[in-house]
Amino acid sequence: MKKQETNQIPTWYEKKSKRKFSGGGSGPKSKKNDVVGEKKDSQKKSSQKTFVGYKKNQQKKNVALPDFVTEIERLFDLASVPDDAKKILSNFQSIINSTHPLNSKQRSLLSDQIRDLSHGLTDQRGERRLGYMNQPATLSAYVHYFLWWNLVRLVRLFANLPSNFLNLGENDLCLDIGSGPLTVPLALYISRPELRTKKLRWYCMDISAQSLSIGENLLMTIATKLDGVLWEIVRVKGEFGADIKEKASFVFCANIFNEIVEDRQMPPDYQAKKITEGILPYINPKCENAKVFLVEPGVPNSARLLSLMRDAFMRRGFNPVSPCPHASSCPMDGKKGGKWCNFAFSTDDAPADLKKISEKANLPKERAVLSFVAMEKSPAQKSDEKNLSFRIGSDPIHLPGGRTGYYACSVLGLLLVVTDSNLLYGDLLSVPAPKRNLPVDEKSGAYILSLDDSKNFSRRTTTGSKTFTSGAEYF
Ligand SMILES: C[S@@+](CC[C@H](N)C(=O)[O-])C[C@H]1O[C@@H](n2cnc3c(N)ncnc32)[C@H](O)[C@@H]1O
Repeated sequence: MKKQETNQIPTWYEKKSKRKFSGGGSGPKSKKNDVVGEKKDSQKKSSQKTFVGYKKNQQKKNVALPDFVTEIERLFDLASVPDDAKKILSNFQSIINSTHPLNSKQRSLLSDQIRDLSHGLTDQRGERRLGYMNQPATLSAYVHYFLWWNLVRLVRLFANLPSNFLNLGENDLCLDIGSGPLTVPLALYISRPELRTKKLRWYCMDISAQSLSIGENLLMTIATKLDGVLWEIVRVKGEFGADIKEKASFVFCANIFNEIVEDRQMPPDYQAKKITEGILPYINPKCENAKVFLVEPGVPNSARLLSLMRDAFMRRGFNPVSPCPHASSCPMDGKKGGKWCNFAFSTDDAPADLKKISEKANLPKERAVLSFVAMEKSPAQKSDEKNLSFRIGSDPIHLPGGRTGYYACSVLGLLLVVTDSNLLYGDLLSVPAPKRNLPVDEKSGAYILSLDDSKNFSRRTTTGSKTFTSGAEYF
């Protein structure tokens, strides 16, 4: 069977763990968190009317959202990606070939090497050597394929993250841990034109010196193509924990901790605390709004680790900026039987040449998936009691009676948002606070938020929404 990034067929991690996960989809009933208090008896009774046995991914009609719903932001909106960034991504093969060309023999072996490394990064991690990025064959496969897909994911995400999170200032110091071929600096440079004029200093840390060097060449090539300033790159060949000379105001970690965790067989809460304690000393204590961005593959273990790291950072004065619409407990924390926080977008608009390489390596990809958390050191925010914000964290789910729902994350906990409007994974919306206690879905334990009846909601207290274009493009 071909491996695909989609929730419709068993994935390698489902086969490995012999259980079915659902990113935001149907899983066994989860225990509710205690953020906003216990469910009242009236809520428990009303759960008798709730939905059981629903399916996912149904084709649905597109109905406009009611006007009391505010559309705040979309996570992977292609319209936010600058045109020159799209061009760089589509032509990335020629850029890599200019800095890291393959001879004909290497080219003929590439598909096999990609497939081997794909197994090494997923279902056969135990067999992968720690310094795999120092081996020519794996490094080639990474740079010619995995880097490109990671750029597709990160450029789309960075282009849509709130600008007050990625507002790096002149001479700011950034650290990228497990930088590989500088994937994070490359993605930021490509996706955020306003940063191309800033003088930033990047400490890029990895155990593979070769991958850092390839990444630096790529960044120089791309900066020249985009007519931007050259960021200063300080290559740090060393392990996570190695000393660096200066403290950073922004720390990025992309797709590294799933590897580190695999190497040590310890429980995830221990790992999360340990990794967080390892990151904190790199952060400049004088920086009042220091930021941390963590992204990992969209698989349950990584989502669990990130949720626990979110908790650990919050205990140290950080608050989540995205994707969480609140700073309370995580209702999609990936505990056994519960939902896990991940986001996906269709690869329809991914570079054609990249998709061809995927097909050739027998690794077709319908969707790009990731789990992430962006955090900022800031005083605790007072939650908005007049409005309820929620982030869509699933595909559409077909509910009995021809209804459609989506799992979503909110300050109340997990929601099952019922609506006939098309919503996308990652959409952030807000409604006036519900007037009465919400009923509870028997299957998932989620609060049911039906957007059908405006009488359920108080009057809107704020305006200023933006309207999404149709969500139909992803389904
Ligand atoms: C999957 S790659 C991710 C590279 C890049 N951040 C990206 O997202 O494409 C993981 C990287 O982490 C590096 N790595 C693994 N263990 C490490 C450690 N203990 N300290 C520093 N880097 C490490 C590997 O060499 C590799 O380059």
